[in-house]
Amino acid sequence: MSEKNDKKLLDKIISLCKRRGFVFPSSEIYEGFSAVYDLGPYGVELSNNIKNYWWREVVQLRDDIVGLDAAIFMNPKTWEASGHIKNLSDPLTECKKCHSRLRLDNLLEDFGVFADEKMSEDEINKLFAKNSQKIKCPNCGAKDFTKAKKFNLLVKSNLGNFTGDWEKDPSYLRGETCQGIYVNYKNILDSSRVKIPFGVAQIGKAFRNEITARQFIFRTREFEQMEMQYFIDPDSYKKHYEDLKKWRYDFYLNLGIKEENLRWHKHENLNFYCKEAYDIEYNYPFGFKELEGIHARGNYDLTQHSKYSGKDLSYTDPKSNKKFIPHVVESSAGVGRTLLAVLCDAYSEEKENDRIVLKLNNKIAPIKIAVFPLLKNKLELVKKAKEIFDKLKYNWRCEFDDHGNIGKRYRRQDEIGTPFCLTVDFDSLKDDTVTIRNRDSMKQERINIDKLNNFFIEKI
Ligand code: GAP
Repeated sequence: MSEKNDKKLLDKIISLCKRRGFVFPSSEIYEGFSAVYDLGPYGVELSNNIKNYWWREVVQLRDDIVGLDAAIFMNPKTWEASGHIKNLSDPLTECKKCHSRLRLDNLLEDFGVFADEKMSEDEINKLFAKNSQKIKCPNCGAKDFTKAKKFNLLVKSNLGNFTGDWEKDPSYLRGETCQGIYVNYKNILDSSRVKIPFGVAQIGKAFRNEITARQFIFRTREFEQMEMQYFIDPDSYKKHYEDLKKWRYDFYLNLGIKEENLRWHKHENLNFYCKEAYDIEYNYPFGFKELEGIHARGNYDLTQHSKYSGKDLSYTDPKSNKKFIPHVVESSAGVGRTLLAVLCDAYSEEKENDRIVLKLNNKIAPIKIAVFPLLKNKLELVKKAKEIFDKLKYNWRCEFDDHGNIGKRYRRQDEIGTPFCLTVDFDSLKDDTVTIRNRDSMKQERINIDKLNNFFIEKI
């Protein structure tokens, strides 16, 4: 599929997210807070379903991967060892006219100039100077900018520091979740029955002071990651890396994402310790962008933590007695980016049916079954519908709705991606059957109430 550049589509998705309670700008009554978002009632269901599906695939169904929930705050030495204090930075420039602060590589990209993420301050400023004629401020159109400076993205905090001068000796909100995994590697090895090769998985919040807020929830300052670090013998890296790539790509297909909207991006300029790095990219309304990174990180992380902590993080193979510092192949995905990808992929406008519908995969749809009494003012119908709802809700996330006419209720459920709507009508009172309407085909079928459980087990 060709790369998208569809601002209108993005606007429609943002509008649906607000209108139907998926995503709200943070603290909106105070004009919001840039690059921070809240998940509304359906957004949190969708996000939980994505995370639960990831956890099931990555931890529950694998006997070689265990879970972890490390704290957001860590000893600040962690970030020295990992290199984030020195290197987690983006080039920042300022428009001299309107004083907008802009991330220079993004600004250049908007004008068809591509900067490598590893360029030094000097290199990117040279590239900037070479193209300065065509680069305009997106906010005021001026062409006059300050020289770019590297801006560190780690978010500082005063946690644990009571001196009032905490900026000199800050703690940090974690910039990625995987550091919690590396520093616990030995604890996990000593306390559980894992042996190399094994993985440690974690889902959690991370924070980065991203310079520019754009593309909705694609790039935010507070975000959630789903990361898995797989510790291996360096000699077997190629096989593990290829297995990991295939497994992670299939994850998105199983989540219902159309293959034509996925592609691989190979990193050409690698960090010195990195053996290989690929991203899985999704064709968002603003083009193919990183959804997940799958990187072969060598033994850099454990070596650094061993050096800075003074602790031995080597591993001795119990069979061969071979001693080594394990290498890591990593899978690192964003919850928000996955949520945005599944929303974009599922969004369809059906003019012929006069509806917008989210064709979400059943397993991640926020609401699985909506239960309606045909008429709100017929007590027998409402009572029977409530009885059915009260039984189904123990197994599936259901919603009871008796507002407006059935057509409007269907439209509302279509927009939040509910795969099944169940209606109790006058026939239900006579023969104990209900109508099930399928979201995608819009077809209806009659099902006996005592067969509902089996029907939904099979379909969901
Ligand atoms: N541990 C490796 C790591 O953190 P990364 O490429 O910086 O690598 C991994 O981030 C994933 O985290 C990305 O593929 C993306 O899905 C998500 N991510 C990173 N920064 C983000 C941001 N500012 N907003 C939303 N998601 C982000």
